[in-house]
Amino acid sequence: MSKDSPIGIFDSGVGGTSIWKEIHQLLPLEHTIYLADSANAPYGEKPAEEITRLSIKNTELLLRMGAKIIVVACNTATTNAIQQLRASYDVPFIGIEPAIKPAALKTQTKCIGILATKGTLSSALFARTSDMYSKDNKVVEVVGRGLVEEIEKGNKDSAKVEQMLRGLLKPMLKAGMDYLVLGCSHYPYLIPTLKKILPPHVTIIDSGMAVAKQTRVVLNSLDLLTKQQQKPPEFFTNGDPEVLKQIIPATEGSFVVKAMEF
Ligand code: DGL
Repeated sequence: MSKDSPIGIFDSGVGGTSIWKEIHQLLPLEHTIYLADSANAPYGEKPAEEITRLSIKNTELLLRMGAKIIVVACNTATTNAIQQLRASYDVPFIGIEPAIKPAALKTQTKCIGILATKGTLSSALFARTSDMYSKDNKVVEVVGRGLVEEIEKGNKDSAKVEQMLRGLLKPMLKAGMDYLVLGCSHYPYLIPTLKKILPPHVTIIDSGMAVAKQTRVVLNSLDLLTKQQQKPPEFFTNGDPEVLKQIIPATEGSFVVKAMEF
């Protein structure tokens, strides 16, 4: 493993590309390898043991591909499996968790909405963070049931998704939230629809940029930031490569998408 080795990123599917995009923008010289485990999506409805097993499978593949650091671009995998991953492998791991802290620090109405998967909201790691900020604030947690499945089918902008979101947001709006935390890396792709639904005083927060910054901090501290331009990003999917190609912003330059069984 060297400075020029790739950054490995995985998610249960296409959603983690929202995190990849931030990493690629912040660290454009780095070679990134992304695994979309779409064949096993959604992780959010699976038991913790199964999420851990899948996270280990993805980690081992990224390590075989030479990853110098692994970004778990999935809240569900982070909150259920990152402790075991860190205990099992020497490589550094960066995880993603719902950004409750910045929302709790800024809310005026003292009411925050969290939209995440069942797996994230029911995890012990999330419960600890949520408890910390629930003393002074009302935290309304809602499972985004069905959303990941629709995004994986390429339907992120559909009328069906808009209707689902209207229903899911209702209890949060009723409770008076002024900050909505997106606790799933698929959900940033719903921001255009969310903006149509939410009143203007509600701010949407996601963790993508924070994850990218943390990746840079850790690589820098280990003297593992590359100094020269590397290969174009590579995306591997065990699902439909067309959905993955569609979701990666065209503005991100050249990239390679490959179908692969894993
Ligand atoms: N992107 C994953 C997350 O951040 C989605 C989980 C799922 O597959 O249900 O939680």
